[in-house]
Formats: sequence, C-alpha cells, structure tokens
Amino acid sequence: MSIKSVIYRSARLSNLYPTLYLGLEKIAGIPLKYQLELTTACNLACPFCTHKDLTQRPKMMTLEHVRGVVQSIEKELPIGLFKRFLLFNLTGIGEILLNKDTFEIIKYLKQKGAMVTFADNFTLMKEDYVRELINLKVDNIFISFDGATKKTYEAMRVGATFEDTIANIKRFVAVKKELGVTLPNLNLRFVPTSENINELPRLVDLVAEMGVKIIDIPQLYVVDKMNTLLKALERDFQRYKKEALQKASEKGISLSFSNPFVSEQKQPIKKCTMSQNSMYIDASGYVLPCCLITQMGDYEKVVEQFNQGNVVQDGVGAVWNNERYRNFRDTIKKNKVPLMCDMCDLYYGDKE
Ligand SMILES: C[S@@+](CC[C@H](N)C(=O)[O-])C[C@H]1O[C@@H](n2cnc3c(N)ncnc32)[C@H](O)[C@@H]1O
Ligand code: SF4
Ligand code: SF4
Repeated sequence: MSIKSVIYRSARLSNLYPTLYLGLEKIAGIPLKYQLELTTACNLACPFCTHKDLTQRPKMMTLEHVRGVVQSIEKELPIGLFKRFLLFNLTGIGEILLNKDTFEIIKYLKQKGAMVTFADNFTLMKEDYVRELINLKVDNIFISFDGATKKTYEAMRVGATFEDTIANIKRFVAVKKELGVTLPNLNLRFVPTSENINELPRLVDLVAEMGVKIIDIPQLYVVDKMNTLLKALERDFQRYKKEALQKASEKGISLSFSNPFVSEQKQPIKKCTMSQNSMYIDASGYVLPCCLITQMGDYEKVVEQFNQGNVVQDGVGAVWNNERYRNFRDTIKKNKVPLMCDMCDLYYGDKE
C-alpha cells in the first residue's frame, strides 16, 4: 500500500486530508483541496437534497474545463511536486456517472498524481464502471445510502430500488476482493432524518452483510422542516446511536457521527477556515467558498447571487485573490456573517 493511501485510510474522511494529517492547507496561497461539481444532472429526487429545486437544464463540466482549471492551479504552485498533494472531491449537486467525461476527468487527475474522491448514489454503478474506477485507483468513494429497509431507503432515495443498489454495492466489494485491491476505500454515508434514524442499528447489520467496513453519518444540512423534525427526536437519536455503535464494534465496522444537533454547539464564525483552504466549483466554473452553501435554499439563485467568480473563465489564481473573495475572508475574520452563510449550522457571528 502506498504512503498516500495509508495517510488516506487514516484520515478516512476526505475533508480531513491534507489539512489535518500533513499540516498542508495551501501552498503559495493556493488551496490544495477543490470540490468540483461534474454535473447537475441526477436520476434521483431525494427529499433532503437541493437538487429537486433546480430549474435550469443540467450542466456538465467537461474534460477541457477541468484541464483549464488544473493548469491554472499548477501555474500558482512553486514546485511541480506539490501537485501530488492536490485533492479533488468530484461531488456536487448531481450524479457524476451521468457525465460522459467523468472517467476521462478522473484519469487526467490521477495522471497528475492528485487524490480523487466522490460521493455516489450507486444506482448506476455497473460492473464496467467498477473495474474502471478500480483500475484508475480512485482513492475514496462515499456510497450514499439512507435507509436499512426497502420502504425507508426508497422514500429517502426517490427513484432508486433497494435491492438493485445493494447488489451494486456488493458487486463493488466482490470485484475489489477478486482483484485483491484496497482502493477505492468505500465509505457508506447515511444522511440522518426523522424518517430513518430508527434504522441506524439495523443499518449496521446490512452494511456488514454488504462487506463495507466504514459508515459515516453526516449532519443533515438546512432542510428546515426535516431538520426541525429530526431535532425533536434527539433523545431517540442518542439511543439508536448507542445501539448502532455497540453493534458496529461487535462487527468490526468503523461508525462515525457528525452531531446532527450541532446548532446548539455553534462556533464563532472567525474559526471557519473554508474560504482559506478550499474551493467549491460548480459545473459551470462558478465558485462558492464552501459546499454547505449549496444546500442553503435555491441553489441556482445562490450561485448567481453569491459566486466569487468563475475559474473556467478566469483561472483559480485570479478568482482566489479577487476583491470579492478577499472581502468575504475579511468579513469572516471580523467575526461577521456574510449573507450567504446566514443559515450555516456550524458557525455564528454578528450580521454583516
Ligand atoms: C448532493 S449528493 C451528490 C452525489 C450523489 N448524487 C449522491 O447522492 O451521492 C452528495 C452528498 O450530499 C448528501 N446530501 C444531500 N443533501 C444533503 C443534506 N441536506 N444534508 C446533508 N447531506 C446531504 C448526499 O446524501 C450525498 O452523500
Ligand atoms: S442526494 Fe445525490 S442522488 Fe439524491 S437528489 Fe441529490 S444529487 Fe441526486
Ligand atoms: S456556510 Fe458555514 S462553513 Fe461554509 S463558509 Fe459559511 S460559515 Fe463557513
């Protein structure tokens, strides 16, 4: 196993790398972490996801766009070696297997020596794709799977079929085993809602049966009504969490939780480093300081109103250092909340 994959396995969650493990957040002022949305097309309609509100025609990031963005990053890096520390998370508001350039884009990024990770709904993960992703040595894939029973899973992942997705996950695990490879690391990600948290303990059994070893329970972001319903169930959640953790330890599964009730533990906004260490780039090249902002209301309007510039048109260096971005960082440093962060569940401060 390479050093990079050891580091990666330890970091486990892509957003901890490389900040936490290498102490490298940026080089020559440029971040090493980029979230690139490859498409806004999706085959599902999950009730907690902002995708359901999109009105424009699906957008696709092309290989040419990605080349341009990467070249603009490389221009800023003092020594080519640093390319090896770049991390691309190819997750946006869409399903990347619907972009015909996805595999070429991954190939290009891997040839550059970058680490590649993405989240996927696994409904379209046919065997050819599995073999290609293994062949390309993708570092990490988050499998989005939000229920332990057919009824709940299909209510959370509208348009997907429980049995088919499970078969796709099991096939990925089986092909990795057949080829004797460790990459891609597979993490199952379960977004907690009031509708599915009672299935957490059962999820552990199901995941063990699938052969996946890691479960990640993130926070449910800003779906107002769903969030309120979930918050009303905190006591139940703690009970299910305890039971799930007990089962996970018996079955040798690593189970980690973000706190879905985190708003009670908000931090001062000056502690938010998102606009200093990473960039979220939408399928047209428009930049937001962080991916949480994509879930804060009407995504298309949010991008139109709050984008910090366009890296496909102007390159990463120009956008990163433009006045708008600098003002955004200054506002946060002064512990003031920029308008686009108004609904952030993680940080608080005075109004801008
Ligand atoms: C927007 S999806 C895009 C990738 C792919 N379509 C999928 O579902 O994995 C990326 C991740 O965000 C999660 N997600 C979507 N809406 C969310 C929300 N309101 N709160 C927390 N996570 C959310 C999904 O479950 C998925 O793991
Ligand atoms: S969570 Fe993923 S699969 Fe579900 S609607 Fe959003 S983008 Fe599509
Ligand atoms: S939405 Fe929250 S996490 Fe994102 S940049 Fe704003 S304050 Fe930071």
